[in-house]
Amino acid sequence: MCGIIGIVLRERGLLLKPLGTAIKECLKNLEYRGYDSVGFAILSNDGLVIRKSKGKIDDVTSKLSFDESDGVCGIGHTRWATHGKPSDVNAHPHIDCSGRIAVVHNGVIENYLEVREVLVGRGHEFKSETDTEVVAHLIEEYKKLGLKPYEAFKKAVSLLRGSYALSVLDLDEPSKIFFARNTSPLVIGIGEGVKFISSDIPAFLDYSRDVIVVQDYEVGYISRDVVVIEKLMDRNYEFDTNPPGTELVDHSSRVRHIDWTPEMARKGGYPHFMLKEIHEQPQAVTNTLISVPEELEETTKLVSKADRVLVVGSGTSYHASLIGGLLLNDIAGIKAHAVISSEMKWFINSVDEGDVVIAVSQSGETIDTLLALREAKRRGALTIALTNIIDSALARESHLTIYTRAGPEIGVAATKTFAAQVVTLTYMAIKLAERLRTAPEGRVSDLKSWLRELPNIMSAAISISESKVRALSGVTTIWRSIYYLGRGLGLPTSMEGALKLKEVAYIHAEAYPAGESKHGPIALVDDGFPVAFTILGGEVDLILSNVEEMRARGAWTLAVMPKGLERISRYFNYIFELHHLPYELTPAVYIIPYQLMAYYAAVARGYDPDKPRNLAKTVTVV
Ligand code: G6P
Repeated sequence: MCGIIGIVLRERGLLLKPLGTAIKECLKNLEYRGYDSVGFAILSNDGLVIRKSKGKIDDVTSKLSFDESDGVCGIGHTRWATHGKPSDVNAHPHIDCSGRIAVVHNGVIENYLEVREVLVGRGHEFKSETDTEVVAHLIEEYKKLGLKPYEAFKKAVSLLRGSYALSVLDLDEPSKIFFARNTSPLVIGIGEGVKFISSDIPAFLDYSRDVIVVQDYEVGYISRDVVVIEKLMDRNYEFDTNPPGTELVDHSSRVRHIDWTPEMARKGGYPHFMLKEIHEQPQAVTNTLISVPEELEETTKLVSKADRVLVVGSGTSYHASLIGGLLLNDIAGIKAHAVISSEMKWFINSVDEGDVVIAVSQSGETIDTLLALREAKRRGALTIALTNIIDSALARESHLTIYTRAGPEIGVAATKTFAAQVVTLTYMAIKLAERLRTAPEGRVSDLKSWLRELPNIMSAAISISESKVRALSGVTTIWRSIYYLGRGLGLPTSMEGALKLKEVAYIHAEAYPAGESKHGPIALVDDGFPVAFTILGGEVDLILSNVEEMRARGAWTLAVMPKGLERISRYFNYIFELHHLPYELTPAVYIIPYQLMAYYAAVARGYDPDKPRNLAKTVTVV
């Protein structure tokens, strides 16, 4: 959903490289947010230097000459197109008529057509099809009407409706970068002699680990000496020049030190972040299991009193929610349902004070999940965020927050954060079973000790699966479509497996409850049609009849299943045999061959798995 960066230096050369190079490097760390086009603006001795182009950073580096542009103040952008196709002219930054104001933006300005019409009426000429360009012209217009640049910026922001993380350079107030946020994420990084404004922390981890998360309806600026944040109090959307009411924010207590290291945001010898992050899963689970028990102490007390628990998420986080929902029912005997965030609207009427809503989100910024949480909170439900990002919107707005400790995830397709989410929700279900005495003591302690073993089992699953998956990648290149079938926890595991293959290898993959596959999907199956079965242990005989049905129609069958099931191996053309472990703990392990299968299929087909087409890591539009 676009990545933005702004950098202000105390003096030129402070980062030991041209500012353009630093902007390029920060943008590379944000490219997972969009890669339709890239651009930057730098205040230099010659005025405002602006370069932008359609394409990914690596493809346009020499065209844009990042390394030849230097200064003390600059902004940059990597785009995921919403309004206007990917093109040079629609690439950010966007400028006003005078060419003195440059704007980069993440989000959607909902009233841009209305504002644009007014501005065109006042003589402004627009070059792009984007919603963003109105911001530059709006600031220009207010300046013409007599406001100083920063006042004009605040006034312009007060007129905007929609979502935005904005970063603005104005030649008439050089060495400051103005910023504003509503809904789209924005963080300030404070380093030695350097300040950043960015969509996400990994952008500037090389230089700063002290961050302030900008909150909704905050505006401000960073300069070489200060960070100024103000809360925008009135947003009356009037086209006049009365300055909007603001309140100065004391942000000193909001500075957080992040324990992520710059290495975490680098590939570290792996060809892609996705592969690195698949391999980091045991560590992500280890770190999460260290911190989560304490965080869950208070939470489980409250959840145990709930009439009902709704676990809400999008994409991969929805699949983790499904697993959490099943386990809360199964282990803890709690009425729990998983709901897709964007579908929550149709459940919301029944939400009340008796409910607990757990919002699951890697980024903590997915707008559908945020809206679901807000509405549930408004209706009196207790809200809990489960997120990987400190001080993210979900973390700030929920009553309670549980953090997964997966470290920064850069690959667009979620992998290690899924493992961390699943393990957290599993631990929560086990704790609740313990508290509510809904499971025999022996079972609870057995699950807890297996949980401690999980990182080792995951490491083994990665090595077992990787060579087998590599050998399969020749086969995957001919797949056009595949089914993933499972029962119980095998279903969300299959759904996540299918999602991975779709996301990065662009192969149509559909997950289905195995028992339901005879009610429709089987109609497509003929000679060689690939069908993957997720077999977790307890459901072997039930699922076997579905395997037989598929084989009878000529399906090519693959199984992810526990070791020791030799009696069923003849039913499959390809088998991943994994460690046998309690059914409740299988998803975080049994997903691994599917993640690797998606990764190697993407590579075999010549795609970049870190940057799948049309996708963005953090989706801040509904
Ligand atoms: C996007 C990403 C997915 C992610 C989903 C939910 O679609 O590409 O990888 O699962 O958003 O993101 P969240 O940050 O809420 O977990």
